[in-house]
Amino acid sequence: MATLDVLVLEGDGIGPEVTASALQVLQRVCKHAGITLALEHGPFGGASIDKHGEPITQAMLDRSLKANAVLMGACGGPKWDALPTDKRPEKGLLRLREHMQVFANLRPAKLFRALADASPLKAERADNFDFVVVRELVGGLYFGKPRFIQGEPGKRVGANTMTYTEDEIVRIGRVAFETAMGRKKKLLSVDKANVLEVMALWRSVMTELGKEYPQVQLSHMYVDNAAMQLVLRPSEFDVLVTENMFGDILSDLAAACTGSIGLLPSAAVGKGPALYEPVHGSAPDIAGQGKANPLAAIMTVAMLLEHTVKRTDLAAAVYAAVDDVLDAGVRTSDIAKKGEKIVGTKAMGDAVLLALDKQLSAG
Ligand code: IPM
Ligand code: MG
Repeated sequence: MATLDVLVLEGDGIGPEVTASALQVLQRVCKHAGITLALEHGPFGGASIDKHGEPITQAMLDRSLKANAVLMGACGGPKWDALPTDKRPEKGLLRLREHMQVFANLRPAKLFRALADASPLKAERADNFDFVVVRELVGGLYFGKPRFIQGEPGKRVGANTMTYTEDEIVRIGRVAFETAMGRKKKLLSVDKANVLEVMALWRSVMTELGKEYPQVQLSHMYVDNAAMQLVLRPSEFDVLVTENMFGDILSDLAAACTGSIGLLPSAAVGKGPALYEPVHGSAPDIAGQGKANPLAAIMTVAMLLEHTVKRTDLAAAVYAAVDDVLDAGVRTSDIAKKGEKIVGTKAMGDAVLLALDKQLSAG
C-alpha cells in the first residue's frame, strides 16, 4: 500500500486527546514503512451535533466509504444526554457502522503481563487470558425493526426487536471461524437459544457452518453463563462470537477483566473499508485534562495496520512497544497502583513512540 487514506473522527470527550497520540504512532510507522499517509479530519458525535445539528453528516458518511479506513475516537457526553435516542451522539456511530456495513467487530482482550495485578480478578483466575470477542455489529437488537415508543403518556409501550437472517448469521460466523483458524482453533458461540427463537436459529446456523471448519472446535453457551464463565475462567476462551447487544455487554466485561477499559482496541470490518474504534467511551470526567490512557487508541492503530494495511509485522511492532512501556512501569492513572508515578496522555504516547523506534529499528 503506497498511500493510506484515513478519515479521522475524533469525536467527543477524550476522543481528540487519545486519537492525537494514536495518529503520532501511525505517522511514525508509515514513515518507517514508506507509506504516504493522507489524513482527513471530520466532525463526529456531539461535536457534529454542535456544528451541524446531527451526530454525523451525509458528507462524512459518503466520505467514509472512499477512505481506506476510518479511525474513530469516542462519542457522547453529559452535554447531549437529554437528547432523544435518535438524536444522540451515539446515533452517529450506529449510523456510521450501518452505512459502512462493518458487520464484524473484533474486540481482542488480553491480560498484559505487567498489569496482572490491575485486573480485578485473582491472579490464578486471570492467568494470562487472551481472547477475541467477535461481535455482530449491524444487526440484532440494535437495528431490528419494529422499534418505537408509542401511545399516550401513562400507557406508552416501547419495543425493540432482535432479528437475524441466516445470511447475517453465516457472514459473522465466517469471520469468527476464520479468526479462530488464525488462533487456537476454539470458537464459542454465545446465544440465548433456550429462550429466544432468533437465537435458536443462530445456534443451528452456527452448528451447520461449523461443518465447513472441521479443524475448529465449536461450542455453544448461553449468554448468562458466558458472562459468569468470563469472570471465573477467562483463560479458557479463545474466540467468542455473539449477537450485537450481547457483544456490547460481554466486551465491557472483558475490558474490566484486563484492569482498565482504556486498554481495549477494536476493528469493525465488512466488505469495504474498516472502522477502527477503541472500546472505551468518551470519559467526560477526565476529558480535556491530558490524563486519558491512549493505549487503546494506539492499539486500534495496530489493528488498522494488521487489517487494512495487511502488515502484521508493523502491527506487531506497535503491540511490542506497548508491552515494553508497560513492562517499564509507565502508568496512566487508570492502570497505576497506589503510590505509583502517574503520567498523562502525552507522556504515555511519547514513551510508546520511543519504544516503537527501537522495535522498528530492531525489526
Ligand atoms: C461500544 C459502545 C457503543 C455501542 C455506543 C457508544 C453506541 O458502547 O462500542 O461498545 O453500544 O455499541
Ligand atoms: Mg459498549
